[in-house]
Amino acid sequence: MDKGTITLIGGGPGDPELITVAGYKALLAADTVLADRLGPTALLEELSDEVKIIDVGKAPGCHVATQDEINRLLVEEAKLGKHVVRLKGGDPFVLGRGGEEVAYAAAHGITARVIPGITSAVSVPAAAGIPVTHRGLATGFTVVTGHQDLAQLPLRADHTLVILMGVAHLAATVGSLTGRGMPGNTPIAIIERGYSQTQRTTIGTLEEIVVRARKAAVTNPAVIVIGDVVRLAPDAAVQLAEYQPLTHTDTAVPALFVD
Ligand SMILES: C[S@@+](CC[C@H](N)C(=O)[O-])C[C@H]1O[C@@H](n2cnc3c(N)ncnc32)[C@H](O)[C@@H]1O
Repeated sequence: MDKGTITLIGGGPGDPELITVAGYKALLAADTVLADRLGPTALLEELSDEVKIIDVGKAPGCHVATQDEINRLLVEEAKLGKHVVRLKGGDPFVLGRGGEEVAYAAAHGITARVIPGITSAVSVPAAAGIPVTHRGLATGFTVVTGHQDLAQLPLRADHTLVILMGVAHLAATVGSLTGRGMPGNTPIAIIERGYSQTQRTTIGTLEEIVVRARKAAVTNPAVIVIGDVVRLAPDAAVQLAEYQPLTHTDTAVPALFVD
């Protein structure tokens, strides 16, 4: 029996063209693929019917497979002599739990190969015309999850904050940032479904983004960008000028969805 292998592939932000050549080649060589919801799932259609595809995508509120189950499946399939691919969204090591999968495989005697990917933290802002750094505006950026305590972060408009999995926590995040002295007029962008046909960017300021996001019914998946670089988005000036606060007639404003 062939010796099985495990390869973690960073599939990028969803566009099938935004996987690396190494990642694409490894995907085509797979016997078994454990696929995420946010990766380049269109590429799965190119695989032969003999390839076993296991959907482990975790839609909000509907966990198809737990991380423990994913770890176990990776090792079980590899021990059957299969070339197992874990096709992940973005980069496996950027808020992607790839390190846990590598460690679990190692604990079971398998050295996983890791092929990096284009993280959504940088590419989704780029898809909306927002560079995470820009000479004269921001010299650095920090990537965090929406669940994280923001107290230790550099809270300045010239240091870009990029938040993944942050929609459900938007109000708490904004409250925490302004409570720590970040000016209410700091620009913020929420980019939903980057690289899809329905990509949408909502731009506002910290003091009004929660209402604006509710009014627009913003949902996951989304990348949130905070800082002066947001002003570089092509429609930033228009959206900032157009803002209308909620009125008492907006009775059916949906709550933000849960991550
Ligand atoms: C579990 S994290 C995984 C991040 C991934 N490892 C990466 O490097 O992009 C999932 C979050 O990434 C963000 N995300 C990934 N792909 C996205 C896309 N195409 N559009 C918007 N947000 C995306 C969302 O914040 C989503 O909730």
